[in-house]
Amino acid sequence: MGRTAVEELDEAEAKTELAELARQLDRANRAYHAEDSPEISDADYDALKRRNAAIEARFPFLKRADSPSEQVGAAPSEGFGKVRHARPMLSLDNAFEADEVREFDKRIRRYLGLMPDEPLRYTAEPKIDGLSLSLRYESGRLAVAATRGDGAEGEDVTRNALMVADIPDRLSGAPEVLEVRGEVYMSHVAFAELNARQEAAGRRLFANPRNAAAGSLRQLDPEVTRERPVGFFAYAWGTVSAALAETQMKAIERLAELGFRTNPLARLCDGPDEMLAHYGEIEAQRATLGYDIDGVVYKVDDLTLQSRLGYRSTTPRWALAHKFPAELAWTQLLAIDIQVGRTGALSPVARLKPVTVGGVVVQNATLHNEDYIAGRDSSGNPIRDGKDIRVGDWVQIYRAGDVIPKISDVDLTRRPVDSQPFSFPEACPECGSQAIREAGDSVRRCTGGLICPAQAVERLRHFVSRAAFDIEGLGAKQVEQFYRDGWIAEPADIFTLGARYGDDLRQRQGWAKKSVQNLLASIERRRTIPLNRLIFSLGIRHVGESASMVLARRYGTWEAFEQAVTQAQVGEGPEWADLIDADGVGPVLAASLVTTFAQDEERASIDRLVKQLTVEEVARPAAASAISGKSIVFTGTLEQMTRAEAKARAEALGARVVGSVSAKTDLVVAGPGAGSKAKKAAELGIETIDEDGWMALARGE
Ligand code: IVH
Repeated sequence: MGRTAVEELDEAEAKTELAELARQLDRANRAYHAEDSPEISDADYDALKRRNAAIEARFPFLKRADSPSEQVGAAPSEGFGKVRHARPMLSLDNAFEADEVREFDKRIRRYLGLMPDEPLRYTAEPKIDGLSLSLRYESGRLAVAATRGDGAEGEDVTRNALMVADIPDRLSGAPEVLEVRGEVYMSHVAFAELNARQEAAGRRLFANPRNAAAGSLRQLDPEVTRERPVGFFAYAWGTVSAALAETQMKAIERLAELGFRTNPLARLCDGPDEMLAHYGEIEAQRATLGYDIDGVVYKVDDLTLQSRLGYRSTTPRWALAHKFPAELAWTQLLAIDIQVGRTGALSPVARLKPVTVGGVVVQNATLHNEDYIAGRDSSGNPIRDGKDIRVGDWVQIYRAGDVIPKISDVDLTRRPVDSQPFSFPEACPECGSQAIREAGDSVRRCTGGLICPAQAVERLRHFVSRAAFDIEGLGAKQVEQFYRDGWIAEPADIFTLGARYGDDLRQRQGWAKKSVQNLLASIERRRTIPLNRLIFSLGIRHVGESASMVLARRYGTWEAFEQAVTQAQVGEGPEWADLIDADGVGPVLAASLVTTFAQDEERASIDRLVKQLTVEEVARPAAASAISGKSIVFTGTLEQMTRAEAKARAEALGARVVGSVSAKTDLVVAGPGAGSKAKKAAELGIETIDEDGWMALARGE
């Protein structure tokens, strides 16, 4: 390229060039985001980044504070606009064993109230190991192509999708609005060719076809997508203005007629025996398909039944992914590190001699907790025949799908003679506070709380993570830095950062005026936040993304949520009953919430945060329904729907289903045989309807 070789640069030249590279890369990023017109090709962009990294590697002390290699979410990931999915893109429930498949069928029958001898059909098709994509067609033209993202919001990759041969840009005879969903993947041949070209050009190799497909689709330069042939299989749909068909199989056939590629191995199966037989057939062909699959997906064929079954918070009830067995490999355990998480948990991590497991290079594995290392489960029973895990051991790595690799076995014959059992620390390696294990807990936890820097940093990192506040320009690296400088100690501080340190920040090396302005502006934008994100961002143990959504939908506003949690007492009273009644909020999660809110310091920190914010109400689902926001009691026998279905249906319509009748109950549905509850409702003057009345409501009439 006519540039001086990195080895020959002197310090002054290196410094000048790093400044120039920072400028060029920043400009390239902005050209793409703001103007949507990339000025340089993806290859040139990569070359600049590589050059920058090489110079930094040789002169680490010259690395700039605004180094392009440290840029959080730098292009290409930031180069795409966001797209909100009209219907969320969900994931699938997983199974590994045949029994779980039979259980899936039983669960569905129970839910629908079907007898074992009544027919119930499923489709069975390969689970493609790629990345999912949603294609929205309006009036027969591809309007938007979006990646899955967090399920609710993905990235706009329309221009790149248009470069994929399997993705039609026009459809004829399609419904006015049609969202086609499927998987982008790369064949083994295309993958090998791509990596050969990458290698010849001295560029980064892709670890596996899935990464290569994802990397290719998320290119700044759509022309590069064209050069990296990816395929697309359509297997599902989102919003449609007119139903595609009455069954899953026919809907997929319809997509094929419209011009999409669909997987030829999809079959109809009458029950678990046939499903498992087809699983066996697909597995037998796995090695010769020419693309990666990681299991078989079963779906209830009848679309009316699918819609009756509906969804849990992140997965449909009517589908199951039956994964292929995990991949295994042996390697040596080099060290055991202890990481301190945001809830203080001390998590042992295995550092491994790098090994390829099912196409992915693995260097770390989880060791769960001290019992697991010692070779026993939480009740003290031996696991791995009681073999403990020691540094220096040869260990078997197990990797199933996307989950973090685990250690499944130890080869005692190769154990170094001088090896020692691992002694698990009893003090926090980060703050020195005592680390204790409470009765019944398998995990040892640092008792340092907010004084433990590891916990504080992890909380802040969690707070700014993608599913939480997701503040542009404030990634894990930046919050960590601000924490170390004493500028930010807790989430609330982020919102006063500008007022307290705006001037210092502008003087800070590597912070251009513009980037300070951008950062403060993106913090301001996030002062308004939906309730579910706020709940999730608090980082309370057991309170994940989907539980946060459930809670937000149930309580609607921060005030209602906060009041409910503050008033509840663990294990007793109607407030507690009310809290654990929400689908997906069990007693463990509820206890964690309630005890956190009852701790003075924690509570004060939460209050300080909320004071800085405007919390957006989260609409209860289908807020327009007649029973939205109402509290319903079912009693007696239901004949047309099982209880589970009735409860799920009522919740989907925005109502809350509670177990007992009180003055707060709005509606009682009384089937035949209703007893004391119906009587009490009559005494309290609560509206009571029969099953036919309920069915009309359930249909949305
Ligand atoms: S159906 C409502 N069918 O697997 C769920 N998904 O682990 C719609 N996947 O996010 C998904 N092959 O990206 C479905 N034949 C297939 C699939 C498939 C691969 C992916 C999809 C999904 C993930 C869940």
